[in-house]
Amino acid sequence: MPNINVKPSGNVVAAANGSTILAALLAAGEPIAHKCDGKAECGSCHIFLLEGRKGVSKITPAENAKLDSIVGVGSKSRLACQVTLGDEDVTVELLGFASGF
Ligand code: FES
Repeated sequence: MPNINVKPSGNVVAAANGSTILAALLAAGEPIAHKCDGKAECGSCHIFLLEGRKGVSKITPAENAKLDSIVGVGSKSRLACQVTLGDEDVTVELLGFASGF
């Protein structure tokens, strides 16, 4: 059962293996935007996946295409709705509300 270490809050969210980062964060009450409800269409759930990148699902063409359209993406950018957790803990930086989504 992986933990999600959330920045900048410092909260730690226990997540189920196989859940998406978005689903786990929402279940824990973390403030993350999700305008298209997980369809990789809105980009509002953009996060930086700081640690644990090797233990999660790989980026899909749909996610990659959406990320390409977002200002401010970097090498650690992911869409929280498209990242399925494995066994490893991850550290994420939430950006959505701070960047105006
Ligand atoms: S919720 Fe819309 S892209 Fe993730």
